[in-house]
Amino acid sequence: MCPHLMLLLFIYALPCDSEARYVTNIVNLEVQSKTDLRNQFALTKNLIIFQNRGPNTIHTYKYIVAEPDPHRIHFYNPEGTELEFEQTPTNESRFSSFVVDLNRNIHPNEKYTLLGKIAYVRKIQPAQKNRHENEDQVMKFENQARFFSSYYTKFSKVEYLLRNESLIETSLVPSFRTNTSLVYIFYNTVRFDSSLIEIVFVNNNAFLTITNLERTIDINHFGKIIIEDEVIVRNIGARLVGPYSPSALAPLSDQKGASNWLYTHLPASAENVQFYDVLGNSSATKIYHFLNYMTLKFRTRYPLFGGWKTSYVLRYEVPLYEYLFTLDSSFLLQIRAIDYVLDKMAIESVTIRIVLPEGALIKGIVKPEIIDFKNEEVSCLGGLCLFGRPVLVLNGSDLFDDYIVNVNVEYSLKWWYLLRAPLVLSIYLEFGFVLVICANKVKF
Ligand SMILES: *[C@@H]1O[C@H](CO)[C@@H](O)[C@H](O)[C@H]1NC(C)=O
Ligand SMILES: *[C@@H]1O[C@H](CO)[C@@H](O)[C@H](O)[C@H]1NC(C)=O
Ligand SMILES: *[C@@H]1O[C@H](CO)[C@@H](O)[C@H](O)[C@H]1NC(C)=O
Ligand SMILES: *[C@@H]1O[C@H](CO)[C@@H](O)[C@H](O)[C@H]1NC(C)=O
Ligand SMILES: *[C@@H]1O[C@H](CO)[C@@H](O)[C@H](O)[C@H]1NC(C)=O
Repeated sequence: MCPHLMLLLFIYALPCDSEARYVTNIVNLEVQSKTDLRNQFALTKNLIIFQNRGPNTIHTYKYIVAEPDPHRIHFYNPEGTELEFEQTPTNESRFSSFVVDLNRNIHPNEKYTLLGKIAYVRKIQPAQKNRHENEDQVMKFENQARFFSSYYTKFSKVEYLLRNESLIETSLVPSFRTNTSLVYIFYNTVRFDSSLIEIVFVNNNAFLTITNLERTIDINHFGKIIIEDEVIVRNIGARLVGPYSPSALAPLSDQKGASNWLYTHLPASAENVQFYDVLGNSSATKIYHFLNYMTLKFRTRYPLFGGWKTSYVLRYEVPLYEYLFTLDSSFLLQIRAIDYVLDKMAIESVTIRIVLPEGALIKGIVKPEIIDFKNEEVSCLGGLCLFGRPVLVLNGSDLFDDYIVNVNVEYSLKWWYLLRAPLVLSIYLEFGFVLVICANKVKF
């Protein structure tokens, strides 16, 4: 080859170097896609058998999702090992793009089986914004009809799982259907095929979501950690309108699209569990003890119909020694930043406040990626303190299923700070006595 051409090729290859990792001749030979529409969240599993049709060895696969923000995405190799991936920017704001590291080289002509699992939080939406008391709650799901990919797909089987006989209509005639599923078979799907499908079905479950969680973890070195969760729950299903019968408000009624009983789990060692809703102490709670955890079952005062919301405060104590460890010259707090809140509900926004003892000096924080460090505040938490206690504030938004995560905080604390609060208390009391005595003296 003449040197000029070599140079030309070299120059041509340079700007695309990063692209060269992805732009390959991959062909999806067969795709089996299954989307479960029976719950509040749509869960998709895609089994992809692809072939490297290019001249080069590859080790990545570019996976495109026609959603700006799919909530949880995981990839697995044929042996079931989870694969690493990286989200890459796209020039289409409607899409998100992931480069999956296949963990080994795929030679020319070699095939590979990749499994992708995606959870979508807000893809099942009310089909009608409003409904009357005795009407069914009609939901809809809209998605790319064919397997959406940056590669050509030879054959795909796309299946939707529904509740038994819940289908109302679908915008695309299925290849097969049963009472609980719709099956579509496609051949020769082009890259970025944008045809859509809409499936409309009945789901009379309550679509509850946690719109806000404020969690306070109070570390005071007096034997207990006090945890308080302030939770706002809203039913994001079809809004209930029109007259409804008073009997619908009877506590145990199991109305369409409404919910009464909620559950949460606490650590087995939780003590002094208190539950309040907006009206105060609610006695409609039950606690069940299990070996490794405790379950709190509670009833909202009224059923949560579509569009309705409630809020409550749950407070409990756990022993300090289970979460606080002594290092050489400091303390290590290892606690759940967010614990179990309510079953299968997304959390739209969360703020976590870790209140350390007065005088604590924070030396390090290890936190999960899904929550951010917001800032550091100083507060007395309504208690007794002189200069204020350091408060670590963490926040997060749109958390889906695996939000139960630990946070580690290392801090140091001089021993005399431990004595300070009792000292301050005794000074206050002393001062009080003196006042009373003086007042008496003045009187007589
Ligand atoms: C991104 O932009 C390039 C041109 O700059 C275009 O060829 C490509 O199709 C675009 N990608 C998508 C996903 O639209
Ligand atoms: C679906 O419901 C019908 C009655 O509505 C029942 O006969 C049938 O067995 C159900 N099928 C499944 C798979 O539950
Ligand atoms: C659907 O359920 C009905 C009973 O309601 C049953 O007669 C029918 O065979 C079922 N259809 C399929 C395709 O399973
Ligand atoms: C709440 O009410 C229950 C029963 O009515 C009572 O046992 C409990 O002590 C009360 N708790 C508080 C904090 O008032
Ligand atoms: C946390 O709060 C900061 C400041 O208010 C904000 O910029 C950031 O986006 C928040 N993070 C999340 C995950 O909500």
